[in-house]
Amino acid sequence: MAVGPYVGVGVILTVILTNFKCAGNVDVFDTKCQDDHLRIFVPLSGDVEPCFKAIGANGQFPITTDGGAQCGYSYSVYPMLAHAVLQASYFSCYTQNEDDLIFTFNFHLIMIDNDEEVVHNITKTCSPSHTWSHREVTCEKNYMEVSVQTDLPCPHTHTLTDVELASALPMAQEAATSAWQVMFLRQGEEPVVMSVHEAEDLGYFLAVTPGRVVFRTAYGQQHSTIDMVSGLAVEVIRPALFLRQRLTTMMVDLVAACTLDHEFHECALIWKTPTVMVPLVSDLSGFRSKQVDFDVNGKRLDPQMIEERGYTVDVGPEIVEVTIPYAAEGGTRKTFVMDNTYHEFYSVTLHYEHIFTTDNGTLENRLCQHTYMATPVLCHTPFTIDLTVLEDRVFTVYVGNFPFDVELVSVSLNGMVMTVPDATQNGYQVSKVTHDNDTYAYTVLVPFEDPIVSKLYFVEGVREYSLNINYTLRILPQEEYYFYLATVVAQIMDVYPPYFNGLCMEDGIKFRIDHQEFDHLWEAGVGPFPLTQELADTRGYIMNNDNQSLTLDVPLFTLGYMYEAVSLEQFLATFEILIRDAKSLEVVQSSAKTCQFATTALLVCSPDGIVTVVCDLSKAKPDAFPSQTSLLDTTCKPKEVDGTRVLYEFALNSCGTRVQITKDLVIYENEITFEESFTPEEKPVITRDSPYRVILRCIYPVHVVGRLFAERTFQSQTPGLGTLQIENPLKTPVTVPPKVETITTAPTSTQRPAKYVPLFSWS
Ligand SMILES: *[C@@H]1O[C@H](CO)[C@@H](O)[C@H](O)[C@H]1NC(C)=O
Ligand SMILES: *[C@@H]1O[C@H](CO)[C@@H](O)[C@H](O)[C@H]1NC(C)=O
Ligand SMILES: *[C@@H]1O[C@H](CO)[C@@H](O)[C@H](O)[C@H]1NC(C)=O
Ligand SMILES: *[C@@H]1O[C@H](CO)[C@@H](O)[C@H](O)[C@H]1NC(C)=O
Ligand SMILES: *[C@@H]1O[C@H](CO)[C@@H](O)[C@H](O)[C@H]1NC(C)=O
Repeated sequence: MAVGPYVGVGVILTVILTNFKCAGNVDVFDTKCQDDHLRIFVPLSGDVEPCFKAIGANGQFPITTDGGAQCGYSYSVYPMLAHAVLQASYFSCYTQNEDDLIFTFNFHLIMIDNDEEVVHNITKTCSPSHTWSHREVTCEKNYMEVSVQTDLPCPHTHTLTDVELASALPMAQEAATSAWQVMFLRQGEEPVVMSVHEAEDLGYFLAVTPGRVVFRTAYGQQHSTIDMVSGLAVEVIRPALFLRQRLTTMMVDLVAACTLDHEFHECALIWKTPTVMVPLVSDLSGFRSKQVDFDVNGKRLDPQMIEERGYTVDVGPEIVEVTIPYAAEGGTRKTFVMDNTYHEFYSVTLHYEHIFTTDNGTLENRLCQHTYMATPVLCHTPFTIDLTVLEDRVFTVYVGNFPFDVELVSVSLNGMVMTVPDATQNGYQVSKVTHDNDTYAYTVLVPFEDPIVSKLYFVEGVREYSLNINYTLRILPQEEYYFYLATVVAQIMDVYPPYFNGLCMEDGIKFRIDHQEFDHLWEAGVGPFPLTQELADTRGYIMNNDNQSLTLDVPLFTLGYMYEAVSLEQFLATFEILIRDAKSLEVVQSSAKTCQFATTALLVCSPDGIVTVVCDLSKAKPDAFPSQTSLLDTTCKPKEVDGTRVLYEFALNSCGTRVQITKDLVIYENEITFEESFTPEEKPVITRDSPYRVILRCIYPVHVVGRLFAERTFQSQTPGLGTLQIENPLKTPVTVPPKVETITTAPTSTQRPAKYVPLFSWS
């Protein structure tokens, strides 16, 4: 970076323009001459990072993203934006300069294409669109550059209006030799003087072009300071280049100052700079602002554009402030999926140009500041609101809020994947909720009863419904997918014990129940006994159990009936099926059916020891007159009679009832007897040994009969088994009906025995 090559040397260089053809990749890069630099834009695909090499007459220079500041190259790779940008100053090291008017750049762009290194030659010639100002200060991402017009090395007396600089002049005069020297001034400190070579070794760049002196430095060098100007941080460096010739000392003030920061605040990118960049203005009385301009992403802003895009540009007396709202037109909003989450950020490249004079309008200064501003990466994690109203029995799931460029592609409901139109067709309502702020959400409706919903018996009649929803979302237009999971659970008290519907038949009661999902939670039983096929077989019930329903035909007079309101015409029979909780065995439901039947014959032995019997005597030989019958105790007369039948009702410990006790049973026995015949002259005779007898028996198991003999009362835990035995000499003895078990008053005990022991095990 010698100063030499340009001094007084009219370098004429041939301009080589190379055209590129790159296999299958036409838009390799884009070059553009800007006001103070050449810009090369390279779109990226994949992870390949292109490399640049600057090619000059005096050698090659590899440009890296963190190098190149000293030489005037600013190279940035934006993987998320999928491009790389190289900006090269017109005064960059390897650029050919023709009279500060024509600048020829030469680069090698090295890209890896299918594992092969492809080298593109980039040659570009630019002429600045404006004539150079007296002083040009450029603030790039990685360097500050200043160039000052001068007719050096011709003797020149620079007007040193700056007090600080003027005071340093004697020192410069003393230190100056015929070689160029650089002096760095820092407020309140002794100036530091060094040779140009020494300065270059420290990373500074100094060059004399045909008409200008150029100085360049990276930020944060040891001779710069951070000053507060109008409340903003500004990096300032103040080098002066000087040469002593004979008795004159020539000195060029190369002060440069750049604003350092920008901010992201309340959803907007904000950039500020002092209106008067004080370090560049030695005498404020001579400051005249001529023009302030902005470019956003390469486009010059005009007032209409500013208004339309919602920017604000405020050039105040102290501060120039530009505010660009998030995602406003002109910037670059980038969205992508990372870690299965939607991410976005917004960036702009802002160029600020201020032309001003410092001496009441003669010498023009141009301050250019280039800033790349980006918001932090913002992520949008969806959230779920369960809007389910239990009473409606429909899952209502809200999921949001999605940015405008997200689309719901499909939903998976408990693992069943369907696109949104398919879901709608299948009867699941998926609707979009649009918000004012350019975001939106979805609600998905799925009824509890839908087969897709998982159902689980939770506890005590509470059923748990659950639905896992896997939303597949897509960012448009790049079609990046991500998904989001939501689980909703509803617990509702809706599991009820089953109920048997009873139907009165001619000869019994028919029960029926349709199987339901949680049948296993319950146990059906008759009295204390679980309703099993075995019980049904033992008792003569007819049970039909298939996978749809269960029917139970209970013939009249089988075990389990209760009878009441017995008259000769009719009686009521009730059969009850109890439903127990299968775990606690507590009775939770009763399905009882009472039917009215016509009375023929009947024997009821109640738990409280009352016997009710209806008997048809029409087959008796010789003929019996019902009204003339009695029990063993002849004072016990029928309660009701008709032409052929009698109805008796008596207590077990009365009417001459006989008791017989075996190891297991207590058997009570009485008989219906009648006067065989009577003539007017004969007295009626009770024919105990009558060939035709009706023997009534009530049989109770010993263990259920309490306080049998201690007191004269009777109490059984269960009804007794009654039998009617008719002894007819003309026929073989018959028992009618073969098995009669009855209850009249007390309800059947509902206490289920721990171990099932059939009460009456004979048949
Ligand atoms: C690119 O330039 C180099 C020299 O700088 C030369 O050797 C090479 O042949 C050129 N390639 C093309 C494709 O022009
Ligand atoms: C600019 O002009 C004003 C008067 O118009 C004068 O007071 C001031 O000194 C001038 N400043 C410069 C730097 O020429
Ligand atoms: C957009 O509006 C919705 C609904 O009013 C709200 O929930 C959400 O937080 C808003 N989003 C932003 C980014 O303001
Ligand atoms: C959700 O769906 C995506 C595909 O869209 C799949 O990759 C992911 O594994 C699913 N997640 C779960 C938990 O099922
Ligand atoms: C129920 O039984 C019928 C025949 O009895 C059979 O066709 C059907 O598949 C069964 N259903 C189930 C769910 O087992």
